[in-house]
Parts: sequence; C-alpha cells; structure tokens
Amino acid sequence: MRPKRFFIETHGCQMNAYDSGVVSQILQKCGYIETRNPQDADIVLINTCSVRERAERKALSRLGELAALRRRRGHMRIGIIGCTAQRLGENLVEATVQPDFIIGPDAYDSIPHALEALERDEAPYVNVERTGSAIYSFRPKVYQQVTAFVTIMRGCNNYCSYCVVPYVRGPERSKPHREIVDEIKHLVGLGVREITLLGQNVNSYNDGYADFADLLELVNGIEGLVRVRFTTSHPKDLSEKVIKQIGLLPKVCENLHLPLQSGSDRILKLMSRCYTLRDYLNLVEKVRKTVPEIALTTDILVGFPGETIEDHEATLEALRMIRFDSAFMFKYSVRSGTAASRLADDVSEEEKVRRLNEVIRLQNSVVDEKKKPLIGMPVEILIEGQSQRHPHHCIGRTRKNWLAIVPSKGVSKGEVVVANVASASRWMLICEGASRKVGA
Ligand code: SAH
Ligand code: SF4
Ligand code: F3S
Repeated sequence: MRPKRFFIETHGCQMNAYDSGVVSQILQKCGYIETRNPQDADIVLINTCSVRERAERKALSRLGELAALRRRRGHMRIGIIGCTAQRLGENLVEATVQPDFIIGPDAYDSIPHALEALERDEAPYVNVERTGSAIYSFRPKVYQQVTAFVTIMRGCNNYCSYCVVPYVRGPERSKPHREIVDEIKHLVGLGVREITLLGQNVNSYNDGYADFADLLELVNGIEGLVRVRFTTSHPKDLSEKVIKQIGLLPKVCENLHLPLQSGSDRILKLMSRCYTLRDYLNLVEKVRKTVPEIALTTDILVGFPGETIEDHEATLEALRMIRFDSAFMFKYSVRSGTAASRLADDVSEEEKVRRLNEVIRLQNSVVDEKKKPLIGMPVEILIEGQSQRHPHHCIGRTRKNWLAIVPSKGVSKGEVVVANVASASRWMLICEGASRKVGA
C-alpha cells in the first residue's frame, strides 16, 4: 500500500516555521511522508498566524481554497494548526471549511491521536488545550539547508497591549540548555552551519542554570557550527552581559533585531513596552560602542489607537536618528481580547496607509544610503546554495544578514567565502572574486 502523504503550508513567524518542522517529524514517525504538492497529499496542514488581521484572513482564505481542493479530490483531510487554531478553536468547526482537525501550538504531541480519530472517522478532532508547558525539539533524519532555526523558548509574558501572541502561545518557558545544545549538534551533524535561536523575547531566557548570555557561550562552543543569530530581543531585557557576548563570541553575528515599535513615549506607554525613546537610544549607543559593526534591525508599528501626527513624526525622527539597517513595518490592526482592543481604533485606514508608506519611504532611503559605501568592500558570505533567480550564481548571507550573490564557480554550499561587493541594490549585494575563508 502506498504510504500516506502530508503537505504543510506555513504562515507567520520563524517560530511557526520551526513548529512545522516539529509537526512534520511527528507525522513521519506515524509513517507519513512529506510531499510538496497539496494535490498529492492525503493530509494538508495549514500552520496559521494571528498576529495581524491580514495574516489571519490570508490563512483562512487559503483554507477556503484547500476545502475546494478537498471537494474535488474527495478523500483529502485538512488540519488547522498554529496560532489561529488556538485563537478560534472550536469556532473553526462552524466555519464553512469544516476542518478535520484543529490543534493548538501546545498540543502537537496529540497529532497521533488526531490521526487515529481520522481513521475511525471521528472528525473533527479538536485539541487547543493550553498546557503552558509544551516544549518540542527538532531532530530530523535528513536536512537539506545550511541554516536552521532552533526555538529556545516558547510563549510570552510581556502582554504588549496590541499583541495577541501571549494569548495564543501561552506563558513563557525556556527549553533546557542541554536539549538546545544537543539539538544544534544534531543539526550540525546533518550539515547545518548557521543557527538562529528563536523566542519572542530571547533575552529573558533562563532554564535555571543558564541565562541567555550563558547560552550564547555554550552554543558558540559547538564544533562545526560557524554562525549564531538570535531573535527577538525586547529592549527592556537586553542586558550588558548579552551585548558584551555579541562583541566577544566569534560565531555570534553582528546582527541585532531590536523592535522599537514607536518613537513616541506616549504611544510606547500605551503599548506597554516598558521603555522610553531615551532608554532605547541609550541602549543603541551602548550596543554600537561595544560592537561598532552591528547591523541593527527593528519593527515599527504605525497607527496605534490615538497616534497623532506628532507621535508619528517622533517615529520618523527616531528612524532618521537611529538609521536602522532594515525594518519590518506594519500598520496596526485590532486583535480581539488584547488590552488595545478596548481603545478606539481611531486612526483611519487611509491615514494608517499614508503613515506606513511614509515610514517605508524614509527607511528605504536610509538603507540605500547605507548600502552605497559597501561597493568595493569585502564581505563574508555563508553560501546557502544556487540562486534561483541569478543563473551561475550562488546565494548566501553576510554576517549582518544581508542577502548576497557570488559567481558559483569554485564555491559550494556550506562554505564561508570572502568576496568584494561589486554593486548593491536595496535587497541584495552583488559580489565577485570569492575566495574561501581559511579556517571556516
Ligand atoms: N516578540 C517580538 C515580535 C512579535 S510580533 C517583539 O516583541 O518584538 C512581530 C511584530 O508584529 C511586532 O513587533 C509588531 O510590530 C507587529 N504586530 C504585533 N501585533 C500587531 C498588531 N495588532 N497590528 C499590527 N502589527 C502588529
Ligand atoms: Fe507580542 Fe510584546 Fe510578546 Fe513581542 S514581546 S510577542 S510584541 S507581547
Ligand atoms: Fe504569528 Fe503566532 Fe508567530 S501569531 S507571528 S505565528 S507566534
């Protein structure tokens, strides 16, 4: 009999990408094999995100398309997992899509039970229990890429007023450091050379033995690993000890994602972010002093309830002052159940779009200016594979996490090369003259 096949589609953040790996591992243990084609799958899973209204709408409309595919094919099953599964739970059963199972992020260990229930035709199976304790590990048998994510903690205790994550992901918990190190060693054994440590707020990592700075040191010591990144750092918890480690530990890349959200103290307070712009600027100064090469990236959220033109100007001014290397920029959308959902969503959609565009335009001009002086400079690139878009070129990333391409002759996947920047677009460095880095 042909083994059953599954297909997973992932929406949302890197933590969902990690979880999709965990879920595919569980399904493989149950005898299923992965396919890249939903037309060919016995089970299609959709790993959903609820962070913004648009993200959620997109996942739900995709679900509609998959339900249409199921009607055409007759025998396919649909599972909803991830943050929207958690947020809407049983309510999704009422939806026109009629999923076969709904499983929240703390309940992935129950997937084998869901499969048994499907065999017995007992759909829908629903498990959105909030245990607040689930921790998974990812140990695939084979792994093709040279970069991987490792979730070091789950959940969030911060309750920023606009954010749904603490409600769907539950309380913060740290994975034991030994487990993290073993997981990374396993991945390195499969060819991984760069690891990104993941958590909603990695700076509050603590397993009772190691804090985040200690963990960085442990991971830095793993033989065969060449690069370490981490995300996300909440400004209120970024300690001096961690900043020092970024400067000291050779494998930790000069790349820090430090979400600012707004440049207005009044809005930061309403967001419950626990820092002022001055605190943030002091932190940036400290980071840049300790690690002068650091690439700083951020998240900006425009159109929060009550945001005035003056507040918005303060954000623009902060962007001009700090000059981030890149930014994810969003417009606010109400998430029900959050503290901000009790405030009037009083910035019009049109004005949110205008402010967002203004922020994007400014930030793009900063990036363009920052990229220009790179021309002619050497950069270190970890080669991730052949470029899909640029024939005869390999693609990789610099230590600062910029995408770069180099001619593929003489370079191969997993290698660290040094190459000169020939030209730079906003999103990509075009490099030449790659030579292998000694000792990497
Ligand atoms: N833990 C991370 C970010 C998680 S969510 C942190 O603390 O920064 C990623 C980003 O989505 C947030 O930084 C924020 O800018 C954005 N976001 C969160 N909730 C949002 C909402 N309701 N509307 C629009 N953007 C939102
Ligand atoms: Fe959301 Fe704030 Fe937690 Fe980030 S720190 S996940 S923005 S509540
Ligand atoms: Fe989205 Fe859940 Fe991540 S809400 S941003 S997938 S933690």
